Amino acid sequence: MKTDKENIFIKSYGCQMNVYDSTRMSDSLGHEGYNETGQMDDADIIILNTCHIREKAAEKIYSELGRIRLLKQKRSEKGLETTVVVAGCVAQAEGQEIIRRAPIVDMVVGPQSLHRLPEFMKQRVAGKKVVDTDFPEEDKFDIFSSGEKKLSASAFLTVQEGCDKFCTFCVVPYTRGGEYSRSVAQLLTEAENLVSRGVREINLLGQNVNAYHGEGLDGRDWSLARLLEQMAQIDGLERLRYTTSHPREMTDELIGLFAGQPKIMPYLHLPFQSGSDKILKAMNRKHTGEFYRDIIAKVRKTCPSIALSTDIIVGFPGETDQDFEDTLEMVRKVTFSTAYSFKYSIRPGTPAADIAQQIPENIKSERLQTLQALLNQQQANFNKNSEGKVLPVLFDRTGYKDQQILGKTPYLQSVHVKGSPRLIGSVHDVLVTSGGPNSLEGDLVMPQT
Ligand code: SAH
Ligand code: SF4
Ligand code: F3S
Repeated sequence: MKTDKENIFIKSYGCQMNVYDSTRMSDSLGHEGYNETGQMDDADIIILNTCHIREKAAEKIYSELGRIRLLKQKRSEKGLETTVVVAGCVAQAEGQEIIRRAPIVDMVVGPQSLHRLPEFMKQRVAGKKVVDTDFPEEDKFDIFSSGEKKLSASAFLTVQEGCDKFCTFCVVPYTRGGEYSRSVAQLLTEAENLVSRGVREINLLGQNVNAYHGEGLDGRDWSLARLLEQMAQIDGLERLRYTTSHPREMTDELIGLFAGQPKIMPYLHLPFQSGSDKILKAMNRKHTGEFYRDIIAKVRKTCPSIALSTDIIVGFPGETDQDFEDTLEMVRKVTFSTAYSFKYSIRPGTPAADIAQQIPENIKSERLQTLQALLNQQQANFNKNSEGKVLPVLFDRTGYKDQQILGKTPYLQSVHVKGSPRLIGSVHDVLVTSGGPNSLEGDLVMPQT
């Protein structure tokens, strides 16, 4: 088997934390001389970085593996070998079972063992399977290398991983393990590396990012607010965001930064899951609807223009029409610029899977439709209200049309404008001319040549 200059193809599913992990895998395998390709057909090594959050997410992997089986067979007829790796949260949750269901898989590697991949690649022996779902002693973040490859203007940076909250519907505490915060020093080094590679906006990630409590520069625990303040000092870094926050960890200090630190963008993703206190209790969310609304009131008072986003689940076991109505009422009261809404999906091994009063699929679908109609309306209104405003846009890619470039407003809306690709990687003022349901169109205020 060849050992160098093999082509690697990485496909990421699920949350932004997987996107971050995939970038780091690409960096560390790149260091070892592997070459990343955007084409699965060209790949000697195929890595699927998987998500287990809902049943559909996990099943998607098996249909993809079905396609890869044919690809592997075709390549083998040409005398080419293909190594298939399942990484991420399905790997963690299902382990060996994946190889039983899909024998073409060569390696199964959980999210906390990803830094061992280069080693596993070197030691490959045809036909020998590797399954690693350990939570190793060593820190994957110490070993994940920083890279040199130029990056897009906006990047993710995992600052906190895992979760101790155990919401009764959720697999994350099992797939990612307990809550762990990285040190401020390590994060600053990584952030500086990102900025040196062209990054202008960093989105700090954590399953409960606002519960961050890593070792600070003075040896004491620092909060997310302090980490953000420190990171904001990096020259060349223009924007900071963080996600996902938990309502219980939304401190006054953190809320205050929406007014006090100009690099923090006026956007907050704060899942509320359900508007019914009864359901919130059954979900083990440890907050009420009123508690959530009080936080939103504080946030809006500090930053009236803020764009709010959320996650909502419909059809949690025991959810009545009235409970669902409470969810709709919460949405009407708060108003969101965007939101992610899901039908409750039974996850084996989580406490909610054993609740007797599961909601029939057709009711879940109906509720989701009703909710999404309301959310889409709110998103359309939010975008429409941007018309006529001048907003700073960070451009990060070219569009499909000639001379079209795309970027993001502070409120995380996508904007299309006519402009030179040379503007990609920097912030420019845009006059919003039209606000559609999913994106904005605008004109550069001072067209650059
Ligand atoms: N840590 C974040 C979210 C993690 S998962 C938080 O605490 O909010 C992202 C979203 O997926 C969750 O907010 C939830 O809305 C949804 N989700 C998680 N488990 C689910 C399940 N079993 N069924 C449906 N949606 C689920
Ligand atoms: Fe899952 Fe709840 Fe933890 Fe979020 S806080 S990752 S929903 S257990
Ligand atoms: Fe999915 Fe794992 Fe993220 S289950 S949502 S990829 S933490």
